[in-house]
Amino acid sequence: MNSKQTISTRIAQLRQTIEAHDYSYYVLDAPTVPDSEYDRLFSQLRELEQQHPELITADSPTQRVSGQPLDTFIQVQHGVPMLSLGNAFAEEQVLEFAQRAEQALGASQGQSDLFSAAPVSIEYCCEPKLDGLAVSISYEQGVLVRAATRGDGQTGEDITANVRTIRNVPLKLQGEGWPENLEVRGEVYMPKAGFELLNQRALAADQKPFANPRNAAAGSLRQLDAKISASRPLEFCCYGSSTEDLAQTHAGTLQRLREWGISISPELKVVNSIEGCLAYYADIGQRRAQLPYDIDGVVFKINALEQQHSLGFRAREPRWALAYKFAAQEEITELLDVEFQVGRTGAVTPVARLKPVHVGGVMVSNATLHNMDEVARLGVMIGDTVIVRRAGDVIPQITQVLLARRPSDARAIEAPSQCPVCGSQVERTQLVRRSKNKQVVSEGAVWRCMGRLSCQAQLQQALIHFVSRRAMDIDGLGEKIIEQLVTRKLVASPADLYRLTYEQVLELDGFADVSARNLLSAIAGSKQPRLARLIFALGIPDVGEETAKVLARALGSMQRLQQAYPQTLLWLPEIGAEVAHEITSFFADNHNQSVIAQLAELQVQAVDEGQTDVAFQACATLAGFIEQFNISGVAHTNALRLAQHFKSVAALFAADWLDLCSVERLSKNTALALQDFISQDEQREHALCLEQQLIEFGMHWNCQRTQMQAAPLAGQTWVLTGTLEQLTREQAKVRLEQLGAKVAGSVSAKTSCVVAGASAGSKLVRAQELAIPVLDEAAFIERMTQLENR
Ligand code: IVH
Repeated sequence: MNSKQTISTRIAQLRQTIEAHDYSYYVLDAPTVPDSEYDRLFSQLRELEQQHPELITADSPTQRVSGQPLDTFIQVQHGVPMLSLGNAFAEEQVLEFAQRAEQALGASQGQSDLFSAAPVSIEYCCEPKLDGLAVSISYEQGVLVRAATRGDGQTGEDITANVRTIRNVPLKLQGEGWPENLEVRGEVYMPKAGFELLNQRALAADQKPFANPRNAAAGSLRQLDAKISASRPLEFCCYGSSTEDLAQTHAGTLQRLREWGISISPELKVVNSIEGCLAYYADIGQRRAQLPYDIDGVVFKINALEQQHSLGFRAREPRWALAYKFAAQEEITELLDVEFQVGRTGAVTPVARLKPVHVGGVMVSNATLHNMDEVARLGVMIGDTVIVRRAGDVIPQITQVLLARRPSDARAIEAPSQCPVCGSQVERTQLVRRSKNKQVVSEGAVWRCMGRLSCQAQLQQALIHFVSRRAMDIDGLGEKIIEQLVTRKLVASPADLYRLTYEQVLELDGFADVSARNLLSAIAGSKQPRLARLIFALGIPDVGEETAKVLARALGSMQRLQQAYPQTLLWLPEIGAEVAHEITSFFADNHNQSVIAQLAELQVQAVDEGQTDVAFQACATLAGFIEQFNISGVAHTNALRLAQHFKSVAALFAADWLDLCSVERLSKNTALALQDFISQDEQREHALCLEQQLIEFGMHWNCQRTQMQAAPLAGQTWVLTGTLEQLTREQAKVRLEQLGAKVAGSVSAKTSCVVAGASAGSKLVRAQELAIPVLDEAAFIERMTQLENR
């Protein structure tokens, strides 16, 4: 066997193994290998194919995404028309469908005489009716050759390139026994979770979100550039085939398709009466919100193919199938009024009060309007006729205004100038964010009640947050109890929780001796949280759990956090201008200062004071510091030169003209601009205070890192495993990242090096199998120090 043959055998083996893993994962829903193993096989295959491009075939798992975008979609004639389904919206219609079928089948079996025989028994296959797009996929000799949309049923569009990118659509059939030509039909849809994520991404990129998963699926599938489809979380579920004689029944056909690697619904059920169908409808209806995808009803299909054939079609619908649809998710109603609710951070949110209407079987009388921007976007006024939509268990939304029906006395919706709960002033704040290219992106406006904790609504929400599991984790303080504490004025701030007495708790509804003692001990038991929890618990706007951890790690104490300048905070990873501003204005507020002081007096103190300074070190370069002054002519490269030359802000500000001129390759104009800048007292003061605070907080300008050289570990991927003793994982990660390496969670053929701490397990084994270099902790630290001091 020559080496070419060996390689092509290896490629074939890898493809087969990957296809088998895909089958277990997507069709059987029972993954057989960890992701890391799968990734390793995949990259091995990709590498071999790159080295031997002549061995690449279109059905290789690496070839899902094709190269060039199309100019237009090509029309495809469906060999067998793609029909639609008759619909039922009520039980009677379902029973009539069954009766008609029974009669027709009875007649065809010679049972028209009502007295002579028992009615024909009919088996039905019940399926969910997925809310996506109908697609036909053709296989020739087991290889996917074409995929098309339904179109008008006769002619669709060729979307082969897009469908190939859907991971659970096999490019090649598994097993054996498949016919030479096979056409399967089914629905392409977007699972709810993928849809949410896609919309979050769209919002973050300032793009318009999709209205619902169906629209998102349609928009993703009809893309001339298949790379876009590939980036969208689409899935395929097969509900039939136009190829004949695969089995005797519909369910049997689907089962065979499944054996060949085609995904079918896990919710299929064969029942032996129409009552069974109704029970299926009721059951799925109840679980609808929990299903990972949207459905708009169920489909009943007569299971025996022989019976299907004898029933045939009426116009463009089969007589052997029926869609039983759920009640509409959208309804028309009237917007009676808009009220404003106040949240934890004081955000005043408009809530629509609607003329009550049944939407999808639930009475709806409120809908969210999110914020005033949404009100403006919808152009809605009080008195308008609107469309409300309810999706699963999501809060109903107004999706559209019917302008033609606007009454002459419709009123504009205005944000209140005073808080509807406490009467404090309401202020409008513009939320802005800087995008990656430093452009200011508007995130809309928020109206905020300035009453802080004197506002009952804010106080209540603040307390709920303070005691929550991820914050102070006080067990037994539910929302109802907090509501009582607030309305009875027993608690006016989180600090007051620690002043509650046994007598006070005993008086609350539902408390007795033991429960009162338990609650008090839970409160007392929360007095020494980790610093990150305490910071998170304070409920600083925009400071979530992750940001709280960064702050705790970098600053090490509440006191420092309170003192930090916004510019100091900007030096921390993940903290941008708005968050830094929110933090400093939170601590500048007298009321918040008093709450923090009271907490400290009551001995509510973080246990882990003391910082690690890794977070600062990760981003602290003097060059970056100099660059942010925006001095004319001092961009990245000159900032690096100045940093290397002066090594501290103080030295830069102490420079005279000669010093500036001695900086290598600095133009005269830039030196002049610099001289002008450093001679301004205000600038100097500000820069020096900032540098002093940064240094006091444990940051050290990393002057070596300002050298103009590529990071020594750029392009490498490291994996940390086992327990490190001298460093935390986080510290190790930050040091690696500082040197330009990426830190990954699993070992693959691409891993450059593995750091194995004590009791390292499977990752170490995998690294050894793949002959990837492994360092123990001591060797790792030595290597890091070496590289850092280079
Ligand atoms: S059977 C002749 N089964 O509903 C039979 N359709 O209203 C044609 N659909 O175009 C379809 N889930 O896009 C069938 N389990 C299911 C379905 C289903 C969703 C869609 C399909 C079809 C439309 C007909």
